[in-house]
Amino acid sequence: MGRPFLNIDVALLKKYDRPGPRYTSYPTAPLFHPSFTAGDFRDEILATNAPGTTSELSLYVHIPFCDTLCFFCGCTMLVTRDRKRIDEYLRYLKTEITRVAELVAPGRRVTQLHWGGGTPTHLTPEQMLDLAAALRSAFTFSPDAECSVEVDPRELDRRHLEALAEAGFNRMSMGVQDFELQVQSAVNRIQPESISRQVYTWARELGFSSINIDLMYGLPHQTVESFRRTIHGIIEYSPDRIAVFNYAHVPWLKPHQKLIHQEALPTPEAKLDILKMTIELLTESGFEYIGMDHFAKPDDELARARASRTLYRNFQGYSTKAGADLYGFGMSAISHFQNVYAQNAKALPDYYKALDAGSLATVVGYRMTPDDHVRKHVIMRLMCDLELDIASIERRFGIRFAEYFGLSLAALTPLEEDGLVKCTADRIQIVGPGRLLLRNIAMCFDAYLDRLSKDKPVFSRTV
Ligand SMILES: C[S@@+](CC[C@H](N)C(=O)[O-])C[C@H]1O[C@@H](n2cnc3c(N)ncnc32)[C@H](O)[C@@H]1O
Ligand code: SF4
Repeated sequence: MGRPFLNIDVALLKKYDRPGPRYTSYPTAPLFHPSFTAGDFRDEILATNAPGTTSELSLYVHIPFCDTLCFFCGCTMLVTRDRKRIDEYLRYLKTEITRVAELVAPGRRVTQLHWGGGTPTHLTPEQMLDLAAALRSAFTFSPDAECSVEVDPRELDRRHLEALAEAGFNRMSMGVQDFELQVQSAVNRIQPESISRQVYTWARELGFSSINIDLMYGLPHQTVESFRRTIHGIIEYSPDRIAVFNYAHVPWLKPHQKLIHQEALPTPEAKLDILKMTIELLTESGFEYIGMDHFAKPDDELARARASRTLYRNFQGYSTKAGADLYGFGMSAISHFQNVYAQNAKALPDYYKALDAGSLATVVGYRMTPDDHVRKHVIMRLMCDLELDIASIERRFGIRFAEYFGLSLAALTPLEEDGLVKCTADRIQIVGPGRLLLRNIAMCFDAYLDRLSKDKPVFSRTV
């Protein structure tokens, strides 16, 4: 997989650097609307849980709390050290879990659980065990369920990881971002390398089988040389997966990002050089590029799922579990079934108010149209397989691809001329630098982009 990247054309990437969605869903979250209500979501849960339903479940739990604010943070989080406030949230979360679980057919098993944030490990070990027990008493878990958690190595002790292992967690994702002190100071996230190493070692000792490390490029003071040191340091840990996120600078959505001094940010050219170095170094060191910021060792299941075309994309990025209904719990969490998306209240008081009123916490949602299903599938396959088998799409949806996607194919023409895709009558292949521009390619198949981009900025930049 490494080869084609050795000729990254920085000028070409720059040409395609524009705002665009990350396609963790299609349609994308800005299209969710309040006319889809908590009542609609409840009806959909009932409609998809007829007695005897046995299809698999995926659960997401959002823990929004953090100890301090990282200035770059784009997540939905709240900084607090008030344990009572966290206890209160956990009480509501458990109410929501019970309320939803009562509607779910008892024969369905959880095959995937993810705790994200914010920072799930900002909970105490006791709070984590209590929450895990609530989930296990409300749902039936498959014995081989993939249970993953996002971990911030700062202010973590071994007991946190022991509690997670005891609660059945077997995968983790650790936030590191960058090892350099100058970068860490500029973003208010001091995290000595020794701390990250210690937490990684504990996790291996406790048997976590798949460990991902999050890094970020595009942060203040980063240079090719400084980030190379970080990447070298991480390769030495030998994690199963590495995510190298492009810093999404969206101060209109996250005003605290204004605390990052613009003049210290790498220029777009420098950022691309950092990306180029990162991809070359990781692929030369035995990691496979999965797509959209993600790298994995060849024996990791993400890489294997890529090879067997069973890779899938969801709100947590790439996944190997296709098709399970996703139930999201907590402030801002998103649920996704075959036909609907439903998102919970994004502010704590609204989340609490809905649950106090005896309702579910949905505030916006979306019901998929037949056209959404076709486009979602096409975008998903392109982003996961890096190619599209046109005959299989025609059979699956009963369409003539060239007619149905006439506008999309026209939009792809300049990308084909630039060597990002190869289009023939029976397949579309993403080639060379196109693999770094998956968002731009997917955008050609998005029916809503014009409508969203017109009024105000919504998305981060694609490169
Ligand atoms: C919820 S955090 C991970 C857990 C924990 N809170 C931590 O920071 O270690 C998820 C990841 O999102 C990434 N992230 C946060 N803000 C981002 C932004 N503005 N642009 C790109 N990635 C971002 C970071 O790499 C971070 O590790
Ligand atoms: S990056 Fe992680 S620790 Fe930092 S503020 Fe965001 S969610 Fe919290």
